[in-house]
Amino acid sequence: MAEKKRFRVFATSRIGDAAENRLREQGYDLEVFQGPEAPPRALIIEKVKSGIDALITTLRDRIDAEVFEAGKGTLKVVSQIAVGFDNINRADANKYKIPFTNTADVLTEATAEFGFFIMGVLARKMYSSEKLVREQKWPSWHPFLPFLGDEVTGKTIAIIGTGRIGLAMIKKCAGFDMNILCYDPAYQNHEYVAAIQETMDLRHERGVQKEKTWIKYVEVEEALRGADYVSIHVPLLREGETDKPTYHFINEKTLKLMKPTAYLINTSRGPVVDEKALAKALKEGWIAGAGLDVFEKEPLPADSPLLDPEIADRCRVFHHFASGATITRLDIDPNKGMAGRTAQAMIDVLEENYGGDVTKMPYVVNKEAFKEVATDR
Ligand code: GLV
Repeated sequence: MAEKKRFRVFATSRIGDAAENRLREQGYDLEVFQGPEAPPRALIIEKVKSGIDALITTLRDRIDAEVFEAGKGTLKVVSQIAVGFDNINRADANKYKIPFTNTADVLTEATAEFGFFIMGVLARKMYSSEKLVREQKWPSWHPFLPFLGDEVTGKTIAIIGTGRIGLAMIKKCAGFDMNILCYDPAYQNHEYVAAIQETMDLRHERGVQKEKTWIKYVEVEEALRGADYVSIHVPLLREGETDKPTYHFINEKTLKLMKPTAYLINTSRGPVVDEKALAKALKEGWIAGAGLDVFEKEPLPADSPLLDPEIADRCRVFHHFASGATITRLDIDPNKGMAGRTAQAMIDVLEENYGGDVTKMPYVVNKEAFKEVATDR
């Protein structure tokens, strides 16, 4: 019997003991860049050129024609540990017919809950409160001094982007008796919105929530003008990639539509927000605050206007951490953990699971590159 081919894999980052062991137990020859920073691009190209069968990538690695060309005839799959893949050039992957995979679904709830918690931290001024205590500047309990926060319960939120994570955020906000304005430039899920409205009505009827609440799709202006909180959940799409780009969706113009008492939360992609415009808006009081988990440039540079001490009380910043919960990141079960899904996605392609039909593999993103072109007979 012919000996099974020992596949070679290069990972640009560690993905945890469990998933790495799973790949080794599968018989793969796995080499892992130990990081914690991303490997130089030249190293990735060199590894791909050396004939590896599979590449594990993170959002930090630019994967484009140069990489695919280096892997021509040998590279069989790129397995990305993230739901987003704006670092991977889809057209190039398709041209070279190399499938790439992502980790959608498993990080949906974790990302949405992080966005939800950012909203609370911002609104209730938890950072300023803790700072006061730590710096021994808490004089005594007082009805309103030295500051007050704002409630989340009963307020109105605009959900910008109603894909998986936006819908999960809606579910959490509904539980806090919030009214919900939905806007999505590309995809609307009216069935989900109707189901949420039914649960809102039932909660009110059965006395679980005092006030009646509502949810509806609206145009962008109405969403931004009407919201106490604006939470962003769109993918990053640049000019030329789509007729509805999301690059700098939040800019001077859209910030000026928001209420001066409103807060912005971004757990999607940094470049969706024009950071210079946002820093100006925070400084000049166009909006009350912002909480960001993602930035135009990551890590956030020391000279970012968002780090200006003058706005530190109203600008919360986090280290692209929304999916950063233990099970979500590392669980070996592909239905629970990003690492598990990354490993399984790669195994599916290398082992030719699903009869070797890439279009049937659940974690492959660019299925369109492998669909038979229908021919007229
Ligand atoms: C994180 O931002 C991801 O895309 O998984």
